[in-house]
Amino acid sequence: MKITVIYGTPRKKNSSTYNIAQQFIKCLDDEDVITEFFLPTSMPNFCRGCSKCFIDYTDCPDYEYLNPILEAIMNSDLLIFTAPVYVYHVPGQVKAFLDHFGYQWMAHQPRQEMFSKQALIISTAAGSGTRSTINGIKDSMNFWGIARTYTFGGNTHSVDWNSVDEKRKIKFEKKINKLARTIKAKSVNVKPCFKVKLLFYVLRFIHKYFRFSEDNFKYWKSFGWLNRKRPWK
Ligand SMILES: Cc1cc2nc3c(=O)[nH]c(=O)nc-3n(C[C@H](O)[C@H](O)[C@H](O)COP(=O)(O)O)c2cc1C
Repeated sequence: MKITVIYGTPRKKNSSTYNIAQQFIKCLDDEDVITEFFLPTSMPNFCRGCSKCFIDYTDCPDYEYLNPILEAIMNSDLLIFTAPVYVYHVPGQVKAFLDHFGYQWMAHQPRQEMFSKQALIISTAAGSGTRSTINGIKDSMNFWGIARTYTFGGNTHSVDWNSVDEKRKIKFEKKINKLARTIKAKSVNVKPCFKVKLLFYVLRFIHKYFRFSEDNFKYWKSFGWLNRKRPWK
């Protein structure tokens, strides 16, 4: 598999989400290729709201940051996101990152390649908030058209991996190993889940019959999605 990892923070050794991601990566095969990005370094800017991307994403003022990440994502079979819970949601830099990909939501111009990829979202909290944090990223995965999204949420009762209780670490390890086995087993001939297909059909209807944006209409038409073709096989 080819894998892109987007780490939600630059923390490594002391980070719970980073260490859990490493545990997952350890379960992969030797020939798997991993490309890593750390936020906010890999996308240091907030979206300016210029909306140029909705016409042509290469006009994004942050294209120099966007492009290498997008290339890695397009070449990957699996995307991994890590995000510690910050005040019940994703850290600001993760939101800023996701905002830059709004143009490829199915409401606009989704990439065909996304419909055969899997994603894993790893989030930890001290006590609670992983659900809303994971959902903050999962919404983007579903609307990007990512075929299947898996999630790992864990409460560390700590702000530092080194002080996480050993029993808890073992519990996390078992859970992430099981997820790794599932993701590997399902990595061949990946098809979108029901929710992603449903979103596709709802948005297809809107693009086809409401034509809110002529650019989006033309884009969807150019792939034949408004007729019989689908972005999955
Ligand atoms: C700014 C900030 C906000 C946080 N907000 C929450 C929160 O809302 N709920 C919670 O349970 N933990 C919260 N935490 C704790 C972290 O989510 C928790 O320690 C997590 O495991 C850190 O992951 P990391 O080690 O990968 O950075 C917060 C930590 C920080 C720094």
